[in-house]
Amino acid sequence: MNPLQDKRIVLGVSGSVAAYKAAELASKLTQAKAQVDVVLSEGAERFISPLTFASLTGRKAYSSLWDSDAHVVHVGLGEAADLLVIAPCSANTLAKLATGQADNLLTLTVLAARCPVLVAPAMDGGMFEHPATQANIQTLRQRGVQVLGPAQGRMASGLLGWGRMLEPAEILGQLRLVLSRGGPLAGRHVLVSAGGTQEPLDPVRYLTNRSSGKQGFALAQAALDLGAQVSLVAGATAASLPTPYGAERIDVDTAAQMAEAILQRAGSADVLIMAAAVADFRPRQVQPHKIKKNLLPQVELEPTPDILLAVAEQRRRIGWPAVVVGFAAESQNLLENAQDKLARKGLSMIVANQVGVPDAGFAVDTNRVSLLWPGGAVEHLPLLSKSEVAEEVLRRVVALLAEG
Ligand code: C5P
Repeated sequence: MNPLQDKRIVLGVSGSVAAYKAAELASKLTQAKAQVDVVLSEGAERFISPLTFASLTGRKAYSSLWDSDAHVVHVGLGEAADLLVIAPCSANTLAKLATGQADNLLTLTVLAARCPVLVAPAMDGGMFEHPATQANIQTLRQRGVQVLGPAQGRMASGLLGWGRMLEPAEILGQLRLVLSRGGPLAGRHVLVSAGGTQEPLDPVRYLTNRSSGKQGFALAQAALDLGAQVSLVAGATAASLPTPYGAERIDVDTAAQMAEAILQRAGSADVLIMAAAVADFRPRQVQPHKIKKNLLPQVELEPTPDILLAVAEQRRRIGWPAVVVGFAAESQNLLENAQDKLARKGLSMIVANQVGVPDAGFAVDTNRVSLLWPGGAVEHLPLLSKSEVAEEVLRRVVALLAEG
């Protein structure tokens, strides 16, 4: 399901000081199991050696047009590529691409390419804002080239401005997104909730739980990888997790805020996956001032709104979302409790996971889950990474959508 797996990516590197960041991108792409062919411009070679890239990708890195085999290489590389990205793309290379020049192996390869082309501009000192560069970018955009960034910030000269290359992680996310287009969830809107909520007691204290949000974020990434449009409602305990690239993220603190965010969107979503550990109860009264420690409080609790019950009610009326997946985290009687929630909350499927064990559940990167469907079917999955669990869940979601 990893959209980068076995894909042929041509990574063009042109002459910018940001060329060192291209090494990280080449490494990340290779780790994601893509086949990465690096093509350097002459300028790039002054900043970084082809050997660096060959060592990171395990494949020959190309530079000079006048290597004995280079005249056929460019056509081969360009035609076989699933995607071509130039990062960093200098002002000079942008200008060459805009006018269709082919005076080095990189620009030749771009002309031979039949795949999506992306460029991540990187240049210093106002060059990006120059009308000539802007016109070149405009030309390339009109031709279907996707322009990534640049970002604003401090540049090598010490100047501040627009011209920094996007970070490799962001470029990688964008490539992943482009390659997942047309997947089995293309055109579908998937709404995912993740992480735990925090229920305030006074301005400095709250009730919360141990959920990290990792499983929910992995589900959002897996849905993106299948081509879905994804909205991710993240609870407070997941605040520090990076947003899967391409997802719309809505950060919330409390169960009430999460309910509002989910109910606002559920009516137009094809799929809802409620992986969040929503607080089941909250302090009845939130004290306006910090409770003094000599006034040991008696905290009265009240139930929070059950989001899935509200969604089930809405779904009975309007029919959306078509598929609703819940989670059951239990420390005892896991399957009985999950079966009960499945029926009570009107779910299409429930993912049951044992908590209170060291290798599954909260915070860790692995999970051991069972999947339950209405009618009594149960499937036990082995110990998997949370990303693998997410892929398995999404596979079932695709099947449920197909059943209609
Ligand atoms: O009833 P319980 O909290 O154990 O059910 C867990 C499932 O219900 C999870 O999918 C969770 O996200 C969802 N839930 C909810 N609203 C709540 C509490 C839990 O939708 N207030």
